Amino acid sequence: MKLICLAMLLFLWVSPISVTSNNVVLRVEQKAFDFVSQTQRELLQESFSNISIPDPKTNKEKECGRGVVGRIINKGNILGVGHTLVGKVMNLNDAIFGETEIKVRATVLADIEVSKTSKGVATLAVTDCKPIIQEMDITFGLRFLHTILWTIQGHIREMLGDRLCQSVSTVLEGVNEEFDDSTEKNLFGDDLGLQYSLQNRPMAFGGYMDIDLIAKYTVKDQVVELPNKAQNFTLPPGASNKDAMINMGFSKAYFSSLFMAFVSSGGFNLEIPSTYESLANQMSTSALGAHIPEVSSRYPQPLRVDMKIVLSQTPVVTFQSKQLILQISPHVEMFVVVSNSPYRNQHLLTVNVVASLVAALDVEEEKLKTSVSLQGDLNLVFVSVSFGKCKCNPSLLSEYIRTVFEKAYLPHINDTLSVGVPLPKVPNIQFIEPVVKIEKNYAAISSNVQYTE
Ligand SMILES: *[C@@H]1O[C@H](CO)[C@@H](O)[C@H](O)[C@H]1NC(C)=O
Ligand SMILES: *[C@@H]1O[C@H](CO)[C@@H](O)[C@H](O)[C@H]1NC(C)=O
Ligand SMILES: *[C@@H]1O[C@H](CO)[C@@H](O)[C@H](O)[C@H]1NC(C)=O
Repeated sequence: MKLICLAMLLFLWVSPISVTSNNVVLRVEQKAFDFVSQTQRELLQESFSNISIPDPKTNKEKECGRGVVGRIINKGNILGVGHTLVGKVMNLNDAIFGETEIKVRATVLADIEVSKTSKGVATLAVTDCKPIIQEMDITFGLRFLHTILWTIQGHIREMLGDRLCQSVSTVLEGVNEEFDDSTEKNLFGDDLGLQYSLQNRPMAFGGYMDIDLIAKYTVKDQVVELPNKAQNFTLPPGASNKDAMINMGFSKAYFSSLFMAFVSSGGFNLEIPSTYESLANQMSTSALGAHIPEVSSRYPQPLRVDMKIVLSQTPVVTFQSKQLILQISPHVEMFVVVSNSPYRNQHLLTVNVVASLVAALDVEEEKLKTSVSLQGDLNLVFVSVSFGKCKCNPSLLSEYIRTVFEKAYLPHINDTLSVGVPLPKVPNIQFIEPVVKIEKNYAAISSNVQYTE
């Protein structure tokens, strides 16, 4: 891949992992390379300003250049940017030579190879470098120096060429360090972690480069494993939003792991006390009795009811009609609060509820934020009832449970998910106005980027 002097940034790292299929693709468009090339230019300019040319005393063949070159550099004053990659102006004031000025315009063509370490960290290396010194004007104050002009030029050319290429390598070393620094796990929420690593060497295609990433979630340092092994995920060639610098695709397996991580950490469990404010009129045997008369028969005197919602099954993630659907099946356990009893709570019933949630996605502060709302009907099955024999149909409770979900459970899930999930991160790169879209079988985020120090 030929890139003009460009430290190409991308990333990532991390330790060997058990997941073998990738679940995220980061597609970097040509536009991004152009942009990075532009911003890295400044970095290179700075780094070029530190170029020092060794004392040519050791160089016997180029003796006539000695002294002059040394002083040029010592008093070198880098003034700025040509329209090509590097513009360098050096001024020399000297009693013998008079005022001397050297102007150099150069371009560096470098082959930069992107590869991955055994740890899954990206590394950039220069495999070939060709400095092209396009223009070099040397103006001496005194005429007699013209006689040695050509030799000096050759010397400066050679030295500068070497140093320009070294600067590119130095800049890349810096970038590689940044990749490495970012190998730490992203921590978020309660005991949740997320690490991205490269699955294989990034692949360049016409106009873009695809980087296959493995996103690994952990809960209290335990890796979240999905029950079924997922396929490798690829972003279709035509999937890019060409106006964006970066396009990312997130597979079904990515979201399964994401929700599974929140479920494993207990984030989808909720205890609702009978005093819960927004369900003030619902948490009693009489409110339940309105749906299931057997409850009223068992408790003729209305008593308060506590509730516990527990989700332990893996949520099922699907993409349907350009929506991300999350199917959950929590157990809802209800307890009658019997204040006189030594056992304060008496089990009333446990019902399994199957609910479909539509997940809306948003990007905020480099994080993927999810929120959910209920879709369609709830499906209820009694797991156990403790209020006596009941031939009652659990669907009688549908409206009641829907109210509990809308007033308490879903806001809680929203709250749990609101911490957001870290997106793949590129050192010093910030997403600008990212757009999220749900496609047929993946979620896409397209974004422009901005360089930050
Ligand atoms: C996914 O691709 C990687 C590397 O290309 C390969 O090692 C792995 O076996 C693939 N996984 C599956 C599930 O096909
Ligand atoms: C230039 O070199 C000095 C001394 O080695 C260092 O402190 C400084 O950060 C360098 N500047 C750039 C822009 O590389
Ligand atoms: C969940 O959050 C989203 C976005 O904030 C909101 O639109 C939705 O109504 C919330 N759902 C519930 C049940 O609170």
